[in-house]
Formats: sequence, structure tokens, C-alpha cells
Amino acid sequence: MKKDFLSILDITKGELEQILTEAERLKTLRKEGKVHELLRGRNLAMIFEKSSTRTHISFEVGMNELGGHALFLNARDMQIWRGEEIRDTARAASRYVSAIMIRAYKHSTIEEFARHATIPVINGLSDLEHPCQLLADIMTIREHFGSTRDLRVAWVGDGNNVCNSLILSTVLTGMKVVVATPEGYEPAEDIVKKARAQGGKVTLVRKPEKAAKGADVIITDTWVSMGDDEEREERLRVFHDYTVDAALMHHASPGARVLHCLPAHRGQEIADEVMEGGQSLVWDEAENRLHAQKALLVRLLK
Ligand code: CP
Ligand code: NVA
Repeated sequence: MKKDFLSILDITKGELEQILTEAERLKTLRKEGKVHELLRGRNLAMIFEKSSTRTHISFEVGMNELGGHALFLNARDMQIWRGEEIRDTARAASRYVSAIMIRAYKHSTIEEFARHATIPVINGLSDLEHPCQLLADIMTIREHFGSTRDLRVAWVGDGNNVCNSLILSTVLTGMKVVVATPEGYEPAEDIVKKARAQGGKVTLVRKPEKAAKGADVIITDTWVSMGDDEEREERLRVFHDYTVDAALMHHASPGARVLHCLPAHRGQEIADEVMEGGQSLVWDEAENRLHAQKALLVRLLK
């Protein structure tokens, strides 16, 4: 059976461990300038319905470094934008390339792709999840703390796609996540249920200070995700007190670190002093997208 990566829970604990170990190995090889063309001659199609900087660059460079090739496809330039059925695009593309990475508005679009493609499909962000981001986040946390087990992680802000993947990841990592959101912006109920049913430790609170209390890691993300633009004004008002700033960091553990998937909006979800301060791991986190995704590609394609 082909393997897809649409959700962070499409891999097991053991597979996560293998991906992270391989990611660390590939990171070292790259640093040492050693060729590691494990996917020579393979092609990855990258379909984007929405903007991207990190996902686009890291997948394209990653495929190149593995000896393969990546094709950037703006969905607006494809026939799907003019009404070609997803199942037809998926089946035709499967005859050309070895894997497809898709960033789509609706998670159901990616699921439909995966149902009809005969090659692995990777979720490069949907309205429901951002599993590739979590691979990098977990790798970054492990690098810094040595292990993820029993770490206290606070999510502050919107209960969005990245938050959903973080919640589900507790099943694999043993991290305890406390999510602070305003009313009406909680993470998807079925995601929380699913994580809890599999032993994930997830707590939902209202106040950012409550989530931050004693936290080892604080994670935040934009208040206005792609697709939410029409709600911008309302969201800026609602999330006003959910900035990760120096005052909030005082509630966290003294050795706490901060993650943000980026792009960041300084002065909104994250203060400049935190983003640029000594507790920020955001650049390592961005870099680790490359290593983690290379390991994922090797796992799906070898
Ligand atoms: N974090 C992330 O996915 O960034 P991009 O939107 O730039 O790809
Ligand atoms: N939650 C953000 C993440 C961007 C990488 C969005 O969906 O726009």
C-alpha cells in the first residue's frame, strides 16, 4: 500500500523516531558537505493553492539535495483551477512524478488527491493540519531539550491548523499541551477528542498566563491564517490579549523556549523582544523543516 502524510497521526511513534533520527543524520551530512543523494532521479510535484516561503523552499531544496527534482505548481496555473476534477489530476500526475506535496485551502481536497493518486501524497498545510511543521517543531524541541517526554507545551492564540497538529502530536511525543484561546477560537473538538482517546494530554484554557505557567515551550502562530482574511479586523480585536511577550514569558519555566512556524506578525501574536530574544528557537525551527522533510521524503519514497 502507498503511504501518505496527511496528518501527523499518519505515522506511528516508532516511525516518528525513525524520521527524526534520519533527519538528524541528514542534517549532519549536509553540515559536513557530504553528498546524500538518496532519491536520485525521483520527482516531487508541489501544488500550492496558497502562498508559501518555507514549505516551498525547504521541499524544493530538500529534493535537490537528495538528488531528485521538485516542480513548483501554482494551482491557479493548473487545469484544476478551471474545473478539472481532482481525481483526474491526481491520476495523471501519478504517472509522471514519485510523490505529490499539496498546500490547499480545504483538507478534503488533499484527501481526495490522496484517494486517487497512486503515489504518496503529503499535506503541505490545509485548514485542518500542518503535519510537516510538527515534524520540524518536534525535532527542534528534541534538539534543545534532549527529549519531548513530559515537557509542558503552551499554545497561545488561535486554535488553528498548526495547533491541531500539535495536539495530535502529543499521542506520539508524550508532551503535555495546554492550549489558551479566546472563546470561539478553540481547536477542533474532534481533534482534541481523538488525541485524548489515544492517550494525548491536552488541556484547554482561556487565559494565556494559565497556559504559560511553568511551560517549557511556548508556541504561537498568526491570528489570521490564510483563508481567514475577511475576519482580520474582528480577529485582531479578539486576540488582543494573546501576544507572546516578555511579560507572558515570566510565567513560563526559566529555561523556556519559544517556537513560531512563521510568517510572524511582530506586535500581534509575538512581540519583537521575544522573537529576537535568547529564548527564541524560530530560526532553528525554520531550518529543521528542511531536514525533517528530507527524512520524510526518504521514508515515503525509498
Ligand atoms: N511555516 C510555514 O509553513 O511557512 P510558509 O507558509 O512560508 O511555507
Ligand atoms: N496558520 C497559518 C500557518 C502558516 C504557515 C496559516 O494557515 O496561514
